[in-house]
Amino acid sequence: MRVDKAGLPRADVPGAFDAGAMAYDRLVGANPRYHANLALSARRMALPGRGRGLRLLDAGCGTGASTAALLAVAPEAEIVAVDASRGMLDAAHAKSWPSSVRFVHTRVEDLNEHGITGPFDAILSAYLLRNVADPDRQLRVFRDLLRPGGTLAVHEYSVRDSVAATLVWHAVCWGIIIPAGWWGTRDTTLYRHLWRSVLTFDGAAAFRSRIRDAGFTAVRIDTVPGWERNVVHLFLGEAPR
Ligand SMILES: C[S@@+](CC[C@H](N)C(=O)[O-])C[C@H]1O[C@@H](n2cnc3c(N)ncnc32)[C@H](O)[C@@H]1O
Repeated sequence: MRVDKAGLPRADVPGAFDAGAMAYDRLVGANPRYHANLALSARRMALPGRGRGLRLLDAGCGTGASTAALLAVAPEAEIVAVDASRGMLDAAHAKSWPSSVRFVHTRVEDLNEHGITGPFDAILSAYLLRNVADPDRQLRVFRDLLRPGGTLAVHEYSVRDSVAATLVWHAVCWGIIIPAGWWGTRDTTLYRHLWRSVLTFDGAAAFRSRIRDAGFTAVRIDTVPGWERNVVHLFLGEAPR
């Protein structure tokens, strides 16, 4: 698969995750803040009452790291977790989950065809929107899946607004992620896609505008502590009331 300046053609991304699925948890586990920062974003969603009575969507759940973060803050919610990569979902399935968590193999572009309809009280999309072909359309789909006032949380890399964050990103990709990915899978495609797709993704201010343009209100940005400060962001928005 050819990785160009913007990364892989977006239709090829789930296949690249299939190839990387067996090594995924080991590689992200080597980042001491990976799970902690997902947990922080889930807490920042401020879901009420342990999630009792809530319906949540984890869009692009992968091996379930973001699903686990949601479950920790909302153990009484119903959680629908979707992903387009069979390999990533198989790794998620191999873990232990309560019956309130359901995994569905689908592209986020095809939720309706797979019977996944709203309303949801909140949607978490962690490291997904950079990987879809039409993020504007996808944001509008998320808006329409949420109940009025429902919460959208997009946890995503965005470095374009900061020279320092861009330099950190180059260093971490070529110093750690791409070599470690090669050792784990003997293939650097997914990790070069990650490097390129983050470099060419919106800056945080542009992505906030994109979320507003999709009709969300009260849109705000937070970053995370540690080396990913100004590299990983949480974008929070409310579906229009
Ligand atoms: C970097 S992983 C993140 C997984 C998980 N959210 C986490 O935080 O660890 C991105 C996931 O998005 C999935 N993905 C990419 N494009 C997708 C699409 N169009 N529809 C659904 N899932 C997609 C990939 O298969 C992959 O599992």
